[in-house]
Amino acid sequence: MWSSVTRNISRRLLDKFVIRSALTTMADSTEVLNNVKDYYGKVLQSTADLKTQACVTPGKALNKQVKSAMSEVHEEVTARYYGCGLIIPPGVQGARVLDLGSGSGRDCYALSRLVGKSGEVVGVDMTSEQIDVANQYIQYHTDKFGYDKPNVSFVQGYIEKLVEAGLQPNCFDIIVSNCVVNLSPDKKAVLSEGFKVLKPGGELYFSDVYSDTELSDEIRKDNVLWGECISGALHWKTLHSLAKEVGFTKPHLVSCSPIDIDREDFNKVLGGAKFCSATYRLFKLPENHQKYSGGQVIYNGEIPGHEDTFQLDHKTELPAGDPVCLSAELVTVLRNSRLAEEFEFDPTAQEVCCLKVAEGEDPFSVIQDKEQRGEKIESACCGPSNKSGCC
Ligand SMILES: C[S@@+](CC[C@H](N)C(=O)[O-])C[C@H]1O[C@@H](n2cnc3c(N)ncnc32)[C@H](O)[C@@H]1O
Repeated sequence: MWSSVTRNISRRLLDKFVIRSALTTMADSTEVLNNVKDYYGKVLQSTADLKTQACVTPGKALNKQVKSAMSEVHEEVTARYYGCGLIIPPGVQGARVLDLGSGSGRDCYALSRLVGKSGEVVGVDMTSEQIDVANQYIQYHTDKFGYDKPNVSFVQGYIEKLVEAGLQPNCFDIIVSNCVVNLSPDKKAVLSEGFKVLKPGGELYFSDVYSDTELSDEIRKDNVLWGECISGALHWKTLHSLAKEVGFTKPHLVSCSPIDIDREDFNKVLGGAKFCSATYRLFKLPENHQKYSGGQVIYNGEIPGHEDTFQLDHKTELPAGDPVCLSAELVTVLRNSRLAEEFEFDPTAQEVCCLKVAEGEDPFSVIQDKEQRGEKIESACCGPSNKSGCC
């Protein structure tokens, strides 16, 4: 008798606990989303409110076309830029591009110029104030770029639910995102929805904040640091495991820069964790794609703005017209990607001489190696400084 009463009580307690923890998780996610909406909709009004280091994108990464496209974006849009990197891959002309967490639309408008009138750009953001600013300048940029109709649009929605927001599967060539994934309570959902809406051969090319260690629950629960794009950061290794689970190729590191946090109160909570801003590209290869052996690859030099060199990642550069020996893995990625036609492939070279992709490359070691070689390292354009800075 007693044991059945105890069993019933424990079951009831357990049920309660399970229900509560499920609700807590949902409530936590909703709370995170609401806090972030508030931060980007109400607290921040312009980049100046960030009180951070000035946003410095490394000069050499900005080619002439990109610089000029950025300079044509309306000043109110630019004034509300909160990104942490450059998210314009080579070869965007004529492409359909999706920007996750597009904010006031700076990257969307620069891309609108670069994709040309045969291309299209869609920005998704959950914060109505950000979407409102972005929408206000559609006609301005359409006129400025001399298009007869807009090639850019903005959708209010969650990046964890792209299909629910009305986006069709397999319809984008490129997905970009600038300092947003760290703010999401469900990064795997973001990657997996992105994978769905990308065309086979398409790529996710995005800048975000990463940590050098798995962050504790205490750090994760700090709302201010979450809003500051710090405590929601993925450990860089987790990006590799999530990419694999979702079906992407391994993430290729394009660039990385350290984020210095010089606020004592923040550092007390963070307990020595380090952060960097990094740009990665992840490809969605077609299902049952053909695998190729390693060999020589020649870049044709025909991508506008990249006539001299094509940069696949921070280590792999292909000077136009010069054969470069690439590993089986890199050849398989390129030949199955949206960029395949930009290269000639000669499989007769020995793979043994080929450049391989570093296995799970640590961006923090890349930064450290650069520092040791005395190379100039630009600080990321985001990261809290003395007051309440954010990206
Ligand atoms: C740091 S700002 C970056 C904005 C823009 N990418 C830029 O570079 O200016 C983050 C943006 O992501 C949006 N955002 C954050 N989490 C989101 C989510 N889960 N779904 C949709 N938008 C989100 C916010 O509303 C905000 O506009």
